[in-house]
Amino acid sequence: QKHKVVVTRQLIDEAQKLLESVPGLNIVQWPTEQPADRKWLLENAKGASGILLMLSDICDEELIKAAGDSLKVIASFSVGTDHVDRDALKKRGIRLGYTPTCLTDAVADLTIMLILMAQRRGGEAISKVQTGQWPKMPWSPLLMTGPQIRGSTIGFLGFGRIGQATLKRLLPFGISRVVYLTSEPGQLVKEDHFGLIKGAAIPIEPAKDWEQLACESDVLIVGCALTRSTKHLISTNFLSRMKKLSVLVNIARGPVVDTDALVAALDKGEIFGAGLDVIENEPNILANHPILKQPRCVLVPHIGSATIETREQMATESVKNLLAGLKGEPMVNEVEL
Ligand code: GLV
Ligand code: GLV
Repeated sequence: QKHKVVVTRQLIDEAQKLLESVPGLNIVQWPTEQPADRKWLLENAKGASGILLMLSDICDEELIKAAGDSLKVIASFSVGTDHVDRDALKKRGIRLGYTPTCLTDAVADLTIMLILMAQRRGGEAISKVQTGQWPKMPWSPLLMTGPQIRGSTIGFLGFGRIGQATLKRLLPFGISRVVYLTSEPGQLVKEDHFGLIKGAAIPIEPAKDWEQLACESDVLIVGCALTRSTKHLISTNFLSRMKKLSVLVNIARGPVVDTDALVAALDKGEIFGAGLDVIENEPNILANHPILKQPRCVLVPHIGSATIETREQMATESVKNLLAGLKGEPMVNEVEL
């Protein structure tokens, strides 16, 4: 009997070949590079044993019910799993695969780009040159100045693999101190992914609460999962406690930051700038959205993991997770539900 698997995107060469090489699979695949249509997904899920989906595909009760009792595995092409109703999967014993390790370097690299763009006013600078304003603003000592990364205190909201890989990149810049807040501070010693935390040459300390994180960070990096308790954690209140020369970088999920509060904080000069890879209601940000009128905010369209190498690995790992789920074998990375 053939296993039906639904795949919500065309995959990159190697991953696609791997998927097609498996005997006994009935592969139903969304034909384009665009996000799969929800109606298509619900209709085709019926009788599926496995679904490989993207972070733009919501995996909720409705989809799980549409698939029916045959469903064994969801393989998500992502590190984040906030688009998946984990409780609904757990209740039915459906396994969840994800790709948390292969994208760490790519996202940490982009985090560095956003920190520097925010501190050194990269977006504003490029836009001035492109709109022909350079002739009106010749070189001068204070032209486009911003805070320096050397000596900065780096705050991490969420301090897992990506945060720690970002720290690894930041140490050679001469940062002076790290303060972090995680949901399970006790876990960190065990999860010192790069052996940086124990024996680091600079202080790396847990914040006692969010207020301390807000007050002390020169660079605040949002790298936590989106959950009920992290939604809008970066609020008006939080932003009002940040330093005037501080920058906020979000490489996690848009809703962790209250966008209206961020716009207001930038307007009032409560923080120096922001670098965002994600935003609430993405990708539906219209050209007249007030965040796009903030010269000190750099917003890129959720490209954290977008290196060629990483996307190939994510695709291949997702297929491996899907196949392992069908066979009842260990996955490359499985979420503990
Ligand atoms: C990207 O945001 C991911 O979750 O993989
Ligand atoms: C900058 O270009 C300088 O020469 O200081």
